[in-house]
Amino acid sequence: MQTNEQLLSAIENYLAQTEFPAEPELLYAPIGYSLAGGGKRLRPMLLLLANGIFTDKYQHALPAAAAIEVFHNFTLLHDDIMDNAAVRRGKPSVYAKWGQSVAILSGDAMMICAYRLLGEVPPAQLPQILSTFNIMALEVCEGQQYDMDFEKKQKVSVAEYMNMIELKTSVLLAGGTVIGAMLGGASDEDCRKLRRFAIELGLAFQLQDDLLDSYGDERLGKAIGGDILEGKQTYLMVTAMSRADEATREILRATHKDAYLTDVEKIATVKTVYDQLDVRRLTEQQISLRFERAISILDTLSVDQTRTQRMREYAASLVDRKN
Ligand code: IPE
Ligand code: IPE
Ligand code: MG
Ligand code: MG
Ligand code: MG
Repeated sequence: MQTNEQLLSAIENYLAQTEFPAEPELLYAPIGYSLAGGGKRLRPMLLLLANGIFTDKYQHALPAAAAIEVFHNFTLLHDDIMDNAAVRRGKPSVYAKWGQSVAILSGDAMMICAYRLLGEVPPAQLPQILSTFNIMALEVCEGQQYDMDFEKKQKVSVAEYMNMIELKTSVLLAGGTVIGAMLGGASDEDCRKLRRFAIELGLAFQLQDDLLDSYGDERLGKAIGGDILEGKQTYLMVTAMSRADEATREILRATHKDAYLTDVEKIATVKTVYDQLDVRRLTEQQISLRFERAISILDTLSVDQTRTQRMREYAASLVDRKN
């Protein structure tokens, strides 16, 4: 069985040897920039780790692992336009560096490249894997649309929010995990359980992402407070809204649009409310809960416990992350 470091470098090597034409430069350069840009490679790691629960071979799973990473990076190119986000992985986002039109078209090309890589899975498994990938890809779009809808919605419940992040984030982790399990030869029942595992892990992961957006370290990636400035619904915001009195709710609703405040003041105002309402601790609690649920599902798989050890370690490192 390979170590997690070995799997990560297999992904890096595979992605690095995937070639893109030099011309037209503005179509292909952003793809290389995005793929070389220091992502965590979470989705392909989950794919290889899920495969590794059932088999010690992993070469056959690399094209699908690369496909899901390229697809993920495509979603980020478009997401940064939607979120008006200038920084990604500590560097200018493709949208900030080359503009919106380039980010749209390069993103489209990346999605096509993702499907091309997916076409390299073992032919006997292609129909099932393609169908899983398609359902996943459409659900991500649904999640992104709910995310944008919520920016204009006065009241978003915690349940609505959890449904939205299941779609925009968890399903991509789950898709990678299930495809990995399929490639490893898992039973349908183990695939279903691993899907549930990754959905819960994805929820923990997105809540951690929300938390880091307000409480993370600027030097490690994105600019702090971007979600607050964009007026985004996050777990922190929906939790705060559900606990605040009407006057405080109005502060939470209005601050990001207040023309008299600087960005720094807006962020500080909202974070003061979060602190008063204990939102940080409640978010951390929910992250732990979702993580524990995810891990307990691994215990129910039809394999020896030792086979899931690497997946457990990897999942734990994700919710402890700082970027
Ligand atoms: C960012 O995903 C988008 C979310 C769903 C939170 P990652 O945090 O996995 O992004 P990279 O690829 O590691 O930069
Ligand atoms: C991104 O969610 C989800 C997808 C791209 C599908 P976010 O908008 O929260 O991700 P970050 O914070 O920009 O990475
Ligand atoms: Mg977004
Ligand atoms: Mg975003
Ligand atoms: Mg975010």
